[in-house]
Amino acid sequence: MGLTRRGFLGATVSAAALMGLSACGGVDSAPGGSGGGGDAKIVLGFAQVGAESGWRTANTKSVQDAAKDAGIDLKFSDAQQKQENQIKAIRSYIQQKVDVIAFSPVVESGWDTVLKEAKTANIPVVLTDRAVDSADDSLYVTFLGSDFVAEGKKAGDWVVKEFADASTVKIAQLEGTTGSAPAIDRAEGFADVIKADPKFTIVASQTGDFTRAGGKQVTEALLKSNPDINLIYAHNDDMGLGAIEAIEAAGKVPGQDIKLVTVDAVKDGMTALSEGKINFIVECSPLLGPQLMDVVKKVKAGESVEKRILTEETTFTPEQAKEALPSRQY
Ligand code: AHR
Repeated sequence: MGLTRRGFLGATVSAAALMGLSACGGVDSAPGGSGGGGDAKIVLGFAQVGAESGWRTANTKSVQDAAKDAGIDLKFSDAQQKQENQIKAIRSYIQQKVDVIAFSPVVESGWDTVLKEAKTANIPVVLTDRAVDSADDSLYVTFLGSDFVAEGKKAGDWVVKEFADASTVKIAQLEGTTGSAPAIDRAEGFADVIKADPKFTIVASQTGDFTRAGGKQVTEALLKSNPDINLIYAHNDDMGLGAIEAIEAAGKVPGQDIKLVTVDAVKDGMTALSEGKINFIVECSPLLGPQLMDVVKKVKAGESVEKRILTEETTFTPEQAKEALPSRQY
């Protein structure tokens, strides 16, 4: 697991230095149009995970809108949650000699070969949203996104308080995409907190692949095998929303008979929270576009960027969701 994606807070590094370039090295000879001539547009190749959740849709919109606002020529691809598609997209961006490549890795492992190809082609890579577990951190310029372990811990902290008076708590966990950074880290952060008290037991933990359909299907099955669970911890809102459908279909009341804590805080999740069907949401912001474009401009200009750029996030109770909903952007 990605030791390299933690522990770089405060370190700054120039993309050119990392990629073995001079400030106007090989990238500038790209036919993407950004070389030497002054006002040509920066070309950014962005390989997105897919469209699996409300979060992802909001993230894609943020990246597309921000590129437009920043005057950056965005080449966008949707990998449909398949690593091989993302690798193909990255290789295609290398062939096209884009100025910068950004991507949100669907899973943590298996990126070294293609990242080395980008490095050999002198194209800097920015990780957004999700990290890779590569031991060689010179393969990317920076990682911009949330602290998923902290998100899991916030969910765990809420559970500990909410069930302070209970003697036993049976928990079902709906995991995100297997092998993805948020699934690994949100499980780790949550487990770290609840392990302090043996009254908490995770009786079932299965992937719903970050989708609503996946969350519904897994919950339907687990309600049969574990009808007496007290809490569902879903690694994102969409799976939590699917779980709500399954709980209601089983004749139970979500938020009461079975409590729910989720991660993201997208509009549909916040609506369910305001209605008391979800009990607590840990925010994970998808609005990474503007920060990404700033980083891309700096990288292209040969300026230093932080090796790890953290997103600021909060948490929501039902009352806070009611207040936040009218102005929620996504
Ligand atoms: O990587 C961020 C996660 O991916 C979001 O929490 C989830 O909704 C998305 O699919």
